[in-house]
Amino acid sequence: MARCFVTRRLPGPALDRLGSHHEVDVWPERLPPSAEEFAARAADAEGLLTLLTEKVDAALLERCPRLRAISNYAVGYDNVDIEAATARGIPVGNTPEVLTDATADLTFALLLAAARKLPEATAAVRDGDWVTWEPGQYLGAAVFGATLGIVGFGRIGRAVARRASGFEMTVLHCGPDAGREEVESLLERSDFVSLHVPLTPATHHLIDAAALARMKRGAILINTARGPIVDQAALRDALIAGEIAGAALDVTDPEPLPAGDPLLEAPNLIVAPHIGSATRVAREQMAELAVDNLLAGLDGKPMPHQVGVPG
Ligand code: DGY
Repeated sequence: MARCFVTRRLPGPALDRLGSHHEVDVWPERLPPSAEEFAARAADAEGLLTLLTEKVDAALLERCPRLRAISNYAVGYDNVDIEAATARGIPVGNTPEVLTDATADLTFALLLAAARKLPEATAAVRDGDWVTWEPGQYLGAAVFGATLGIVGFGRIGRAVARRASGFEMTVLHCGPDAGREEVESLLERSDFVSLHVPLTPATHHLIDAAALARMKRGAILINTARGPIVDQAALRDALIAGEIAGAALDVTDPEPLPAGDPLLEAPNLIVAPHIGSATRVAREQMAELAVDNLLAGLDGKPMPHQVGVPG
């Protein structure tokens, strides 16, 4: 039996399965452990099951001498220092595929909500401002037949493109390694731009003031990937200046976004609290995959979804 630290309760029965093989310590709070609490609880762990809210960096790894496997409950793993884990021979797992459709659905929900001004329109009903049927009120952007630019054409980007085909959209796409010129050409031609690249040093602030200036004035930006891919100060300025028509974000920098953050002063902005994968089925399947990864890693077997393969 190995000692495992799990940094939050997870939906579904997967953690019971982990508990039938190993000694499992689950952080019981709604909020994540602080860095110090995390290090203290992880210190004698052989297995870690972490969320994107936990920073698993070289300093943390140094304080975990017995650690043999890390399983991250997310497809993204920018919170884990893969190089440092690999140097220690510790495999790292993630949870791809099972959240692809949930995230693509939310991307489309945000796209439609921003295009059709749903937040303002529904708020008006609650505020008693639905006074009559008005020809010029809440006029949004047409989605059917528009051009969608997808930056990052992996599993989720492709799933978004499949949804776009139902709306007869023209889909432009480029991969995470696309050069600046390729990205700019996509930005210039798209009515909607949706981001699906992982967060790496190369994609940090990929959408900066210069990139936003390339977008059409009527364009809407959707980000369901990672907050720091967008320079939020530049986005705020672009929305206030009317350089783009709107933005819908499921991810921000930082997370959570403080209620008084200057970004929230921007018009035509939707911010959701990082709920891309939040369907019951996706979150339960993520838990199953995360446990599969941890069990395999602790058994010294390749994880079903391993991102850090020790050399
Ligand atoms: C991920 O998996 O990386 C999402 O951001 C959370 O599910």
